[in-house]
Formats: sequence, C-alpha cells, structure tokens
Amino acid sequence: MARDPAVPRHVAIVMDGNGRWAKKRFLPRFFGHKAGVDALVKVINACADRGVEYLTVFAFSSENWKRPEDEVSGLMGLVIVAVTKYLAKLARDGVRITIVGDRSTVSERLRAAWAEAEDSTQHNHRITLSVAFNYGGRWDVVQACQQALAAGLKPEQITEAALSGFMAMRHAPDPDLFIRTGGEVRISNFLLWQVAYSELVFTDCLWPDFGVAELDAALADYAGRDRRFGRVDSGSGPA
Ligand code: FPP
Repeated sequence: MARDPAVPRHVAIVMDGNGRWAKKRFLPRFFGHKAGVDALVKVINACADRGVEYLTVFAFSSENWKRPEDEVSGLMGLVIVAVTKYLAKLARDGVRITIVGDRSTVSERLRAAWAEAEDSTQHNHRITLSVAFNYGGRWDVVQACQQALAAGLKPEQITEAALSGFMAMRHAPDPDLFIRTGGEVRISNFLLWQVAYSELVFTDCLWPDFGVAELDAALADYAGRDRRFGRVDSGSGPA
C-alpha cells in the first residue's frame, strides 16, 4: 500500500514537562516521569496506528547528569521498571525498540535492560521506537567523526552521506516532524544533525498530558506544512 505523504514517516519528540506536571499535583518529580512513561506507551501505539514508521524520544540527555542525584537515579531505575512493566506488551504490539546514546557510562544493569528490550523486539516491524538515552546531538556528531577516522576514511571521504552512516540514528530516515511538549521553544541538543529539514511543532501541553488528541493536532499541523527542502517550488511532502 502506498504511503500517505501527509503522514510523517518519522516523528521525534522531546517529552518535556514531567516535573511541572508532578509539581502541580504536589508530587515528587519522579511521579511525573513515571506518568511520562505511561503517556509514551499510548503515543507509540497511536503513532503506529496512523502509519508513522519511526518514533524517536528523548528520555535522558547527556546534560541530564547535572540534575539532583536522586532524580538521575530515579530515571535510571524507571527504565528498569518500564522494561519490566511494558516490554512484553510492546513486543506483542509489534514495536521494535532501539536505544541510541552513549552506553559506556551507564550501569551494567541498565545496559542489560536495554539489551533485553532490543533483542526481544528485533524482528518486529510495525513501528521502530528509538529511545535516546545518555544522548546528545553533539555527542553523536563527534562519535560519528571518531568512527569515520577509526575506519580509515580520508578527509575527502568525509561526506554528509558517509557521516550519516556512522550516526547513532543511521537505522532511520531523518525526522519529518519534531514535537516538543512543555512550552519551551528549543531543540536542546536533540538530533541536531537529523532535524535540518524537520517540521517543528511546539506545544504547551505537559508530556504526561500528551495523548491521542494532542498527537492528532500535531499531525494535522504537519499535514498543512509546505516542505520545500531549500527549493522554491513545493516539495514532495504534505500539502
Ligand atoms: C523532561 O521533563 C523529561 C525528562 C528529562 C525525562 C523524560 C523521560 C521519560 C518520560 C521517561 C522515559 C523512560 C523510558 C524508559 C523511555 P522535565 O523533568 O524537564 O520537566 P520540567 O521541565 O517540567 O521540569
């Protein structure tokens, strides 16, 4: 079946606002992140139902280590809890899970949880969920250059296409639609290389409150955009 060009193939999301969501309820920030995982599971399935093939979410940035120690360890622990609670369901739902980011500085327990999530879903193809964890867009560009040099590429061989092949997101096309919840209007070092021509949607909705209605509003916004990729005429994208 032909793809509907009005539906983005790849959606990337900065899931911001968990802390404020919890604060509004007089709860510790951790509860906001916990509610954020529940919101994410719903959004994964809604995206797949609408024909989105890749969903990439920012779960922990290279800069998030600067948060209070208990919040950092809470987020690490939440991954283990989320994998235990939701992995079987996501696997059944046809979700392929991949992790992008620097694994060298996370605990052995976390690496094992990620490996289990990746291994048990590797043959699924309804939608690919990439979880950016200990990830930064600048880190990715640097590690791609390091890999290219280690592979023996000469300066003239360092092209955009060659470098893309060493990026952590090399398994996916560039995001068509970039969504940030929580009211801030910035990229925050997420997928810097890949968002060059993404359509950007910012919403005040706090991430745990982001559901099917908010997703559909963002998709409708995207469907009305005129994607030109630097050209004067209309591109092949929506509208
Ligand atoms: C930003 O909200 C959110 C994060 C730093 C973490 C997002 C993580 C999750 C939703 C959990 C994902 C876990 C898995 C296993 C995929 P914030 O804390 O900056 O909120 P604030 O701006 O209101 O303070």
